[in-house]
Amino acid sequence: MYDLRLIGYPISHSLSPWIHKQFIERAKVEGSYTIHEIMPDESFAEEIEKLKHAQVDGFNITVPYKQKIIPYVDRLNVEARSMGAVNTVVYRDGKWIGYNTDGRGYLRALYHKYPEVQEMKDKQVLLLGAGGAARGIYYALIEDGFKQVDIANRTIESATNIQALSEGKTETNILHLEEAEENLGAYDLVIQTTSVGMRPHTEQSIISLHHLTEGTIASDIVYQPLQTKFLREAKKKNAKIHYGHSMLLYQAQYSFEIWTGKIFDITHMDEKMKQELKGR
Ligand code: ATR
Repeated sequence: MYDLRLIGYPISHSLSPWIHKQFIERAKVEGSYTIHEIMPDESFAEEIEKLKHAQVDGFNITVPYKQKIIPYVDRLNVEARSMGAVNTVVYRDGKWIGYNTDGRGYLRALYHKYPEVQEMKDKQVLLLGAGGAARGIYYALIEDGFKQVDIANRTIESATNIQALSEGKTETNILHLEEAEENLGAYDLVIQTTSVGMRPHTEQSIISLHHLTEGTIASDIVYQPLQTKFLREAKKKNAKIHYGHSMLLYQAQYSFEIWTGKIFDITHMDEKMKQELKGR
C-alpha cells in the first residue's frame, strides 16, 4: 500500500492527485496520493518530521518548497543536485532520496509527441526564459547530447548562470529577447519556459513569432490555457505545436516510476488530461 503525497502551498487546485490516481489504477497497485498543504505560517520542519514519522513511501514537493526540502533529504540524485531543487522524494532503505523529474519529464513528453526530435541533436534549439523550468530542460537537453542550445531571457545574467551547466559540452549563445525574435528563423525547436501567457494574462506572449519558419517545433510549458498566444501564433506560421500539459504528465510518470518501479503506457491519458483541464 503506497502512501504518496503532494507537499506545497497553495496546491488545492493541483492536477497531480488526478494524474496519480489514474497511474495507481493503471499500474494496478494499492495506494493513495494525497495533498499535504504546508501553510506559510506553519513550521516546515515540524511538518516534514511528521512525514518522516509516518514513513510515507514518497512525495512530490512543489512551490514554494523545492529548495527548502534539500537539507531534509539524505541524498540527492545528479539532476536534483544540478538543479538545486527537488520535486520528488522517495523513501528507500531507510533514507530519503531527492530527485528532480522536470527536465527529463519534459523531454519524454516532447519525444513522445515528436519522436524525430531524438534525431535532431545537431539542430538549433532555442530556450526562451531562464528560470527553474528552463534550467531543468537545458540540463536534460545537454545530457541527451544536443549540440546547440541557445538561451534568450529578459535578464541576461540568469541565462549565463544556466549556460554554466553545460561545462562546454554544448554550444550556447545568450540572447536578448529582441535578438531571439529577429533570429527565430534559424531555429528548429523553440521552447517557451516562462510563465508569460498563463491565465489570466492570456493575451501575452514572450516574443513575437513573426520570423518563425514553417515546420519549426514550437513548445510551450504553460498549460493554462492550453492554446497560449505563443502557440496560437506558432500555428499561424505552420509550426508543429507541443502543448504544455504533457510535461506535467510525463514528469509525474517519472516520479511514479521512482516510487513504485512500475512502467506503463500513458499515451491515451494525454487526451483525457486535456479534457480534464478544459473542465477546470
Ligand atoms: P520557474 O521557476 O517556474 O521557471 P521563475 O524562476 O520565476 O519561474 O522564472 C521565470 C522566467 O520567466 C524567467 O526567465 C523570467 O525572466 P527574468 O529572468 O528576466 O525575470 C521570465 N519572465 C517572467 N515574467 C516575464 C515577463 N513579463 N517578460 C519576460 N520574461 C518574463
